[in-house]
Amino acid sequence: MENEKKQTAYSAIQPSGTFTIGNYYGALKNWVTLQDEFDCIFCVANLHAITVPQVPAELRQRTYEAYALLLAMGIDPERSLVYVQSQVHQHAELSWILNNFTYMGELSRMTQYKDKSQKQGKNIRVGLFDYPVLMAADILLYQSDIVPIGADQKQHVEICRDIAERFNSTFSPTFTVPEPYFGTAGARIKSLQEPEKKMSKSDQNVNAFVSMLDDKDTMIRKFKRAVTDSLAQVKYDPENQPGVSNLLEIYSCAAGTTIEEAVAEFDGKGYGDFKLAVGETVADALMPVQDEFRRLLSDKKQLDEMMRDNSEKAAYIAEKTLRKVKRKVGLL
Ligand code: TYM
Repeated sequence: MENEKKQTAYSAIQPSGTFTIGNYYGALKNWVTLQDEFDCIFCVANLHAITVPQVPAELRQRTYEAYALLLAMGIDPERSLVYVQSQVHQHAELSWILNNFTYMGELSRMTQYKDKSQKQGKNIRVGLFDYPVLMAADILLYQSDIVPIGADQKQHVEICRDIAERFNSTFSPTFTVPEPYFGTAGARIKSLQEPEKKMSKSDQNVNAFVSMLDDKDTMIRKFKRAVTDSLAQVKYDPENQPGVSNLLEIYSCAAGTTIEEAVAEFDGKGYGDFKLAVGETVADALMPVQDEFRRLLSDKKQLDEMMRDNSEKAAYIAEKTLRKVKRKVGLL
């Protein structure tokens, strides 16, 4: 039915550090294709970024970079909303209200909190603990139907669903209860150095991740150094050959093939040739994105205008939900 309202897809990325090909193939690339089927809303989550220490000037610059990168990789502002979280005040407001529908126990169980707080040691910020509630507010403000994410954010969408259901049953249906959405491949891109771990932009070892903005030579060098095994066969077997399987997954995302097709392509080839081909394919896919990224970033005035325009549109939608929530809770 042509006039049927499309469902809403919502997702966000933090402007912290560089974006890796894990972010790209695990989540961001799906965002681009979802634009055909859904009303899409994407956010640069800078309020989430301050849950760990930030240098203000760097955070500001990275927020522009994240925004420009989303546009460069194919988020189309004519079709989708792309805005910056701190420019829509309703996020912080709903987050406070939802804090009162969330339990300490459920937040304590979040694995990302456990990992990050362990790394921080002393003086863990309340914001880091409360981070999933802000994420729930992001999603629920827009009555989102699906949330495209990588596997590491699954728990956060589950708690968002619990909060929404709790609120709906305490009052009356208010929030759409969202479903997590994972792409077919790439939901769990692993470190190139320790393929048991996810690829992370905060890894101390720069050879463990490939940034979307690394130059071609750097990308190829990192793939050449990727950890494999001594079995000398290009086979998809994440249990026994995690390094090779991760490279196959990355290759299939970059080349647009299935894993089986990728395995067939490299049948009988040595690891050296295989790693070089993965590096070249990823680099060739990302070079045009980098060119467009630089072009967009060179005009901050235009980016500022787009941000303002998009945040106004986002705030209009968000306010409708927030007003409803306040009325139900009894807030004047
Ligand atoms: P963030 O900024 O850490 O990551 C952005 C997206 O990239 C995915 N991702 C990966 N996918 C596969 N393999 C990897 N190695 C990998 N690394 C990262 C993440 O799963 C994520 O989808 N809290 C969120 C941002 C956020 C959000 C939201 C997301 C804030 N509000 C509302 C969805 C809805 C985060 O820190 O993602």
